[in-house]
Amino acid sequence: MTDWSLVYDRFDPDRQGLREALCATGNGYYVSRGAFCWVMADKTHYPATYLSGGYNRAPTEVAGRVIENEDLVNLPNWSALTFRVAEGDWFNIQAVEILSFRQTLDLFRGVLEVTVRFRDKANRESTLSTRRLVSMADMHLAGIELSLTAHNWSGPVQVRSALDGRVINAGVRRYRDLNSSHLTPLIAGTYQARDGGEALLQLLVETKQSRLRVAQAARTRVVSNPHAFEARTESVHEEGYVQQDLHCSVGHGETLVVEKLAALYTSRDTAISEPGIAAREAAAHAPAFGRLRQDHERVWRQLWDRCDIVLDGDSKTQMILRLHIFHLLQTLSPNTINLDVGVPARGWHGEAYRGHVFWDELFILPFLNYRLPAISRSCLRYRHMRLPKAREAAAEEGLKGAMFPWQSGSDGREESQKVHLNPRSGRWVPDNSCIQRHVSLAIAYNAWRHFQITGSEHFLELRGAELILEVTRFFASLAHLNGQTGRYEIHRVMGPDEYHEAYPETEEPGLNNNAYTNVLVAWLCSASMQVLACLDAPHRQELMEKLLLDERELALWDEMSRKMTICFHGEGIISQFEGYENLKEFDWDGYRKKYGDIQRLDRILEAEGDSSDRYKLSKQADVLMLFYLFSREELSDLMQRLGYEPLTEDQWQRNIDYYLARTSHGSTLSYMVHAAVMARSHPDKAWDLFQQALHSDIDDIQGGTTPEGIHLGAMAGTVDLVQRCFTGLDVRDGVLHFDPVFADRMGTLKLKLRYLGRWLHVVLKDEEMTVAAHSGWVRPVSICVRGESRDLPPGEAITFRLSKGAATEVGRSAAE
Ligand code: BGC
Repeated sequence: MTDWSLVYDRFDPDRQGLREALCATGNGYYVSRGAFCWVMADKTHYPATYLSGGYNRAPTEVAGRVIENEDLVNLPNWSALTFRVAEGDWFNIQAVEILSFRQTLDLFRGVLEVTVRFRDKANRESTLSTRRLVSMADMHLAGIELSLTAHNWSGPVQVRSALDGRVINAGVRRYRDLNSSHLTPLIAGTYQARDGGEALLQLLVETKQSRLRVAQAARTRVVSNPHAFEARTESVHEEGYVQQDLHCSVGHGETLVVEKLAALYTSRDTAISEPGIAAREAAAHAPAFGRLRQDHERVWRQLWDRCDIVLDGDSKTQMILRLHIFHLLQTLSPNTINLDVGVPARGWHGEAYRGHVFWDELFILPFLNYRLPAISRSCLRYRHMRLPKAREAAAEEGLKGAMFPWQSGSDGREESQKVHLNPRSGRWVPDNSCIQRHVSLAIAYNAWRHFQITGSEHFLELRGAELILEVTRFFASLAHLNGQTGRYEIHRVMGPDEYHEAYPETEEPGLNNNAYTNVLVAWLCSASMQVLACLDAPHRQELMEKLLLDERELALWDEMSRKMTICFHGEGIISQFEGYENLKEFDWDGYRKKYGDIQRLDRILEAEGDSSDRYKLSKQADVLMLFYLFSREELSDLMQRLGYEPLTEDQWQRNIDYYLARTSHGSTLSYMVHAAVMARSHPDKAWDLFQQALHSDIDDIQGGTTPEGIHLGAMAGTVDLVQRCFTGLDVRDGVLHFDPVFADRMGTLKLKLRYLGRWLHVVLKDEEMTVAAHSGWVRPVSICVRGESRDLPPGEAITFRLSKGAATEVGRSAAE
């Protein structure tokens, strides 16, 4: 393993699913799992390709009723490429003696390479090497280069290349009872690019309900020694499948090199006539693999130039951070802009959560906002385009404004399951998670932060303001005034902690006055006023007219910003929801002893006939999410505005200790949020949690969830933790504040940030922080390092020496 590559030097069939997810290659338009090119789906391997936002709905009868799920569809396998020697068996890594094995995911270049030296049953010794990529430069193209070296033999080799559309969705065991067939095969065959030219493969399928046409075409060629390639190819096709065999030969000690270039188009693509034509032409005109790779590597190099975060304290931490950035960029890249897709919780890397979009963008957009804001804007556009559906959903509940779904897919309707399977008990249990109304707050919060960081007035005018105001309006209609307390309350919702869906022994889902929800609503009501103030008069007027927004409504929002209810118990502990203090304490030690891994306490307790609703326990941060989203100063201001005493230092600590002790970390988001919250007060503990968060996917700490798809929120969240929490980065009143932590253990930290359209270079090293502004801008940037405010002119760098709680300017120089 180096700082730039994920390396495995042993084939391990039991870890293959995990490696396929971690070694997936993609370009923000589609992602293919890192399965070997010679395998078909079986117990060990699962080659799968997913289009961003490529969904299909399918009904299934479960427990006596028909339920409908919208799934991210496993598309035809474009990567099938295998061989056999002299009419022997087709290559199977589990049927040969492996002499050496190396799988390397090169993060810098975006290339996955697998090299196996093996001895087959006939004592032939060979080295098989494959390199593959999904092009970041040309989003429709992917390629594989396969080399076979014959060390002690020579003879005929048959290479088989196929496009396989006979696939189903079989990536998640829990879903196996659900309808998994999503594709209708339409065309499978070969075509000639030119008169007398080579035959290429083509395949066309259509998703059964969403009627998305997906076309693939592929060109496979021997490139090492074209003379060794007898011009004999055969093709066979059946419904949904086409293959082509190339008959070649390889000499003693020689290497046969074959390359397969594949194109993928869908009926959703722009600037095409029809996906089949587009795919056929693209495959026919595709460059050689080497050229494809050069272009691809160029784009990756440019992306890394903006996006890399150097943390040279230890090389494993560095590599994992880069792996996380890599998968974030493979899910959401410049190719994603304008595709009308949201931020999938599990990347486009697997079928878990069906490719749905939750609130996880809260942890993902901050990284993009500071580097590739056009991508975050495109993700927010996905939400904005679904405002009509969100308004419809609110209206169905008798409410106003926009209520976004907890799980969103193609058209923005609620995609959450009504029942889910508890694999421990084998029971289908009701799923009320969709009453996590806070998802809409995350969207509004993201829209406002995006504006604060980018200063994009255009975004605010076109989409941001409308999103924010409609979400505020929704919460204003959800809230009601408690005549006795004179404060506003919100009932029957869930916070981020999914282990509490209802009060114990009640049938009705939901809890009252979830602190996270209520504080964010108060914040949002104030933010809405600022949004209106930021719009110029004509835009403000136009929007008010469009939304029929009047002064009375604004006055209500203003009042709510001062009078939302927050419940407390004990000495200054913010209650997760009203009545939290009446729940029973949980026997943490007893359950740890009994079960070992108790992350999924909801499942453990349900299987015991009990319920997590009864206890003071949580899956992930809920109250502490407030400490995560807001700086101390901001939260104090919010509390004060609400007429509550701001938390004292001691209370702040006690809240952290109280909830951390009652958290099972059942979501991968949990470690990362707690690490951020504790960074200042408990640096050792926070560093451990950060390390656990870093290892969530690479070590599959949930024991089997990563093979079903990476956890994009946790991946991006760890990177954001370094960017924002390690540097103490925070935008307040148009000033970029820094207040670094962890200086003693992280080595040198270097990153680039784009703030209000200007690039800054930040270096933290040996208790010194340097902030440099690239030249080429007109206005200086206002920065503040531990209370020291400066205007940083373009082309200049300022260095501060950091001491306990303070910073001193120690030098100025020209920015490099
Ligand atoms: C978490 C949610 C998250 C979802 C998707 C769940 O386990 O509890 O907060 O949105 O996973 O990542």
